[in-house]
Amino acid sequence: MSHADTAVIIPAAGSGERLGVGIPKALVEISGQTLLERAVQNISAVAQLIVIAAPPGFEEEIKKIFTEPSVLVVAGGRVRSESVANALKVIPSKYQYVLVHDAARAFAPTELAERVLSELIQGQSAVIPALDVVDTIKVVDAEDFVVDTPNRSTLRAIQTPQGFTVDVLKQAHATGSDATDDAALVSQLGIPVKTIIGEPLARKITTLADLTWARELVGQS
Ligand code: CTP
Ligand code: MG
Repeated sequence: MSHADTAVIIPAAGSGERLGVGIPKALVEISGQTLLERAVQNISAVAQLIVIAAPPGFEEEIKKIFTEPSVLVVAGGRVRSESVANALKVIPSKYQYVLVHDAARAFAPTELAERVLSELIQGQSAVIPALDVVDTIKVVDAEDFVVDTPNRSTLRAIQTPQGFTVDVLKQAHATGSDATDDAALVSQLGIPVKTIIGEPLARKITTLADLTWARELVGQS
C-alpha cells in the first residue's frame, strides 16, 4: 500500500550514548547494512518522500548513501524533537500525511507502517503503535522513592512509526517543546492520539543487548 501524499521523517541524529560504540547509532552496521539504511528500506514502500535528520557532521556521508531524489537529508537537532522539527520544515505543502520513524527501530516491518497509514487514511489525525507492558511500572521521585504505581492494564510501551496529518504534526512542533516521542506533543494540544497494536520487531536498538538481538535476528552472531 502506498499513498501519493505520504512523507516519512527518520530522526537519526542521536549519538547512541547508551549503546556506546563510539559512532552515531544510526550508522552502526548489522550484516553489512547500517541501521539507517535498514530503517529506510523497511518503510520506503509507503512513502513518496523520506527526510533524514542526520547526526551533526555526518550530513554529507549520509547524502552519499542515499542518492535518490526521493530522499532528503537535513541537519539533526540537539534533542529528538528538534531533529523532527528540522525535517518537517522541508516537507512540501502537498503532503497530507507524515510518519515519524526512529532509525533505531530499523527492523520495524513495512506492514506496521501500512497499518499506521491506513488509520490516517480512514480519518485519524494521530496514530501510534503500542505494546502491552509485562513489568509493573512505577513512578519515582528525585530521591528514587516510589510515588505511584499506575494500573498496568492502562499502560502501553509506545513505538514508531507514529503517523500524523502534516497539519497536526506542524501544530505540535510549533510549540518548540521537546519530548521523547511526537505523540506526546500532539497530546499536549488536546488532540486525540489513537493506539494500534505494535510489533515486537519494532524494538528500539538502545543497548548492546538490543544489538545482540538484532544480530541474531539476521543470523549474524
Ligand atoms: N534522535 C535524533 N536527534 C537527537 C536525538 C535522537 O534524531 N538529537 C533520534 C535517534 O537517532 C534515534 C531516535 O531519535 O533514531 C530515538 O532516540 P534514541 O534511541 O534515544 O537514540 P540516541 O539518542 O542516539 O541514543 P542515546 O539516548 O542512548 O544517546
Ligand atoms: Mg536519546
